[in-house]
Amino acid sequence: MLEKIIETTEFLKAKGIIDPDAGIILGTGLGELTTKIDNRIEIDYKDIPNFPLSTVEGHAGKLIYGEFGGKKIVAMKGRFHYYEGYGQEQVALPVRVLKYLGIKCLFLSNAAGGVNPAFQIGDIMVITDHINLLPNPLIGPNDDRIGVRFPDMGEVYDKYLVNKALRIAEEYNIRIHKGVYLSTSGPTFETPAEYRYFRIIGADAVGMSTTPEVIIARHMNLACFAVSVITDLGVEGKIEYTTHESVQNEAAKTEARMTTIMTEMISSL
Ligand code: HPA
Repeated sequence: MLEKIIETTEFLKAKGIIDPDAGIILGTGLGELTTKIDNRIEIDYKDIPNFPLSTVEGHAGKLIYGEFGGKKIVAMKGRFHYYEGYGQEQVALPVRVLKYLGIKCLFLSNAAGGVNPAFQIGDIMVITDHINLLPNPLIGPNDDRIGVRFPDMGEVYDKYLVNKALRIAEEYNIRIHKGVYLSTSGPTFETPAEYRYFRIIGADAVGMSTTPEVIIARHMNLACFAVSVITDLGVEGKIEYTTHESVQNEAAKTEARMTTIMTEMISSL
């Protein structure tokens, strides 16, 4: 694994991706943020050695490097989900490469179903903790050069960054929540009973991504900050027919607010 990580990292450095301050992994319908990256270098995943290919509509499959919020960032437009059939190594490699490129913080966004009854469609939730119901991406032999066998998960989401996001939201008058994100494999959306169950066990929002990447990042001690856009509600009486398109549409409506938060967060690093 390490050999592949280094090979991919060296390839990207040779393409001009040098010393990024932060990495961003963008969720469903949230890729527009990348249009705000200046002096960019774009590389299709298919041209990057060892990178898996993104198969989902709304996930473009491009690595974009450049200036954003006055900092150098590298953004993954398109991510790799378990429901696509990827294994642990494939999900882990891009995140590890971001770390080996030199990022100090990893920012992630996703679209999620709200199970907290106080949530409304279009709300933004800063993730303060998670429940990972996907296979743990660290199962298998551990490479001690990358991280420890048994990583602590006591504070996965950087408190300083969470508080900063809340202050930014207040300043810009953006409705925001804090909450626990629960990940399931998908690709099915939940039954009403599953939504109810996830609420009972402590979730505020549910989705199909983010926790694998965050676990891989924390294994390497990388600071993480993640936000969910609530695109549908898994709350009794408010459950509506959900499609990938409705999720994409609702996520797209929050793009401006998400971009504001991310720009301010990154410029203050
Ligand atoms: N469940 C799972 N994943 C999702 C949802 C949901 O309701 N909405 C967007 N992604």
